[in-house]
Amino acid sequence: MGQLKPLISLGTQILKHKITRKRAPIFLCIFLTNKCNLRCKYCFVIDETIPKEILNAEYTKEEIIEIIDEFYEMGTRLIFLLGGEPLVHGDIDAIVDHIVGKGIYLQILTNGILIEKKLETIKKAHAICVSLDGREDVNDAMRGKNVYRRAVKGIRIAKEAGVPTRVHAVISRHNLENPEELLSICKKLDVPLTIAPSCHLGKTTDPAFMISREEYQEFWEKYLALAKDSEGIGSIISNSAQAIRKCRDWPIDYHRYITTDEVFDDYEPAFCPPTVTYTGLSATGKMFVCMNLGIDKGPDVRKLGVRQAWKMLPEYRPNCVSCASINYIEVSMLLSLNPGIILSGLKLHFRKLLSGLKK
Ligand SMILES: C[S@@+](CC[C@H](N)C(=O)[O-])C[C@H]1O[C@@H](n2cnc3c(N)ncnc32)[C@H](O)[C@@H]1O
Ligand code: SF4
Repeated sequence: MGQLKPLISLGTQILKHKITRKRAPIFLCIFLTNKCNLRCKYCFVIDETIPKEILNAEYTKEEIIEIIDEFYEMGTRLIFLLGGEPLVHGDIDAIVDHIVGKGIYLQILTNGILIEKKLETIKKAHAICVSLDGREDVNDAMRGKNVYRRAVKGIRIAKEAGVPTRVHAVISRHNLENPEELLSICKKLDVPLTIAPSCHLGKTTDPAFMISREEYQEFWEKYLALAKDSEGIGSIISNSAQAIRKCRDWPIDYHRYITTDEVFDDYEPAFCPPTVTYTGLSATGKMFVCMNLGIDKGPDVRKLGVRQAWKMLPEYRPNCVSCASINYIEVSMLLSLNPGIILSGLKLHFRKLLSGLKK
C-alpha cells in the first residue's frame, strides 16, 4: 500500500490545478541519461546525425536532485524516469531514493535488461514499465538479438519481487496485424499492456513506420474490440477504451497534429496538457513541450533555472491542439482525473486486490 500516499498526493495536486487553473508541471518526464545498453531501430540513440556529446549526455546526481527539488516546489507529483536507459545511470539508486523520499509517484521506464542487477533500486519505485514489442522474432527485429529473452526474464523477476509492472509496446508493421499475439504473451506473464505507435510526426523514412491512417484505424478498431473482451486476453489491455476511440476516429494524417484554426464536425480533440500540467526534461538540460515535437527544443534549465524555463515554455509550443498520440491523450485524461484512466492505474497497483473483489 506504499503506492497509495503518492497517488493521493498526485490526485490532490490535480484537483488544486482544476480549481485554481494555474499552470503547474504536475507530471514530469525525465530523460535521465541518453546512454543506453541497446540500439532499438526506432530510437533516437541510433541516429548518426546526433553528435556524440548529446548521445552521451546525462545529469549528475547533484544536478538532478536540485532540479527535482525545484519541480517539487512547483507542484510536480508524478515522475517518469527514462532516457536512454535510466538503469545504466551510475547514481540511479540515490536518485530513486530522492524522488520517492519526497513522496513523488515514480515510474521507471526500462528495457528490462538490468532488472536483476538493479532489483533493490527497482523495488523502491512505485511501478516499472518494461518495453516489449511482440513475440521473440518481432521484438528482436526492432530491439536487438536476445532482447526478448532478457526482458521477459526481467519482467518475471520484477513481478516475483512484488514490483507493479506493466509492458509497453511500440506499434510498427511487425506487430500491427497481430495484437492478439502480444496480448497472449502479456496475459501469460500476467502484466498489463499499453501500446503506442512510433512518434515521429512525419520525420521517419523507415518503412516499418510508414502506416496509413486507414491502417491505424483498422488496428485501433481491432484493439478496441479486444479491449472490450474483459474476460479473455483483452483483460490485459491497460489503454483506455475512450483513448483508443480518440485514436481510431483521428480525422487527419496520423503524423500531423490538429492546429488551433482547424475544427472538425465529428471529432472533438482531447485537451493536450504539455506546457500546462506536463513537461519533460531532455538529458541535455532542455525543458521540452512534448516528445512528439522533439526533446531537444526548449529552454535550457541549466542556464535559466527551472522556474524561468517553465515560464518560457509556452513560447515553444506551436499552434497545436492535439495529436494522434495515445500517450498524450491518456496523459490528458489522467491529468483531468478521468475515471477510466484512474481505474487502469489502480489495476496496475492493486491487481490482486481488484481481481479478488471481482470473484
Ligand atoms: C525511449 S524509451 C526509454 C526507456 C527504456 N530505455 C526503454 O526502452 O523502455 C521509452 C519508451 O519509448 C519507446 N520508444 C523509443 N523510441 C520511440 C519512438 N520513436 N516512438 C515511440 N516510442 C518510442 C521505447 O520502446 C520505450 O517503450
Ligand atoms: S532500450 Fe530504450 S532508450 Fe535504448 S535504444 Fe531501445 S528504446 Fe531507445
